[in-house]
Amino acid sequence: MGRGRDLIFLSRHGFRVLGVDRDPMAIARARRRAAGLGLPIRTELADLRTYRLRGSYEVLFSSSALNHLPPSGRARRFAHFQRATVPEGIHAINVFDAKEYARPSPDIDPGGLPFRRGELRSYYRRWSVLEDRELALECRFGGRPHRHFWQVIVAQKPKSGAMTR
Ligand SMILES: C[S@@+](CC[C@H](N)C(=O)[O-])C[C@H]1O[C@@H](n2cnc3c(N)ncnc32)[C@H](O)[C@@H]1O
Repeated sequence: MGRGRDLIFLSRHGFRVLGVDRDPMAIARARRRAAGLGLPIRTELADLRTYRLRGSYEVLFSSSALNHLPPSGRARRFAHFQRATVPEGIHAINVFDAKEYARPSPDIDPGGLPFRRGELRSYYRRWSVLEDRELALECRFGGRPHRHFWQVIVAQKPKSGAMTR
């Protein structure tokens, strides 16, 4: 959830949200901002590599964060996130791809590893893929114009059955 930009956007649009990050400063900042806006966000200080979602969620949203999952554990983590999603629930996710790391930008979060081409989609073989694309956006953060490169997926869990991958 970082400093909560997306979380606050979703809360503003009526979602009941739970945000997760391992950085207490980022969480504190998000909580202050949400409080100032009168928005009821829930947060957890946790590590995504091991965090267990309790309950079932209608939407899982992640932007520029799942690169911090080590490649060897990604399939298991995605399977867990998918089990914790209601039938017909939605995952909307973007991750940085190899082009992002070939020429790191000044605002890249250190410690992440790229997703291989087609990797993100490979975790959603048994879901309906509503959107699957590569995205490049210009950015001027840090005073040096540069581009970011993502893989983006929006997928829906099947109606019934406990399908994951
Ligand atoms: C680019 S930010 C996410 C930005 C967010 N989408 C927003 O709306 O602002 C990536 C975040 O991932 C967090 N992060 C990195 N590794 C993590 C891990 N293993 N577990 C939980 N959070 C992690 C970082 O602390 C950072 O806040």
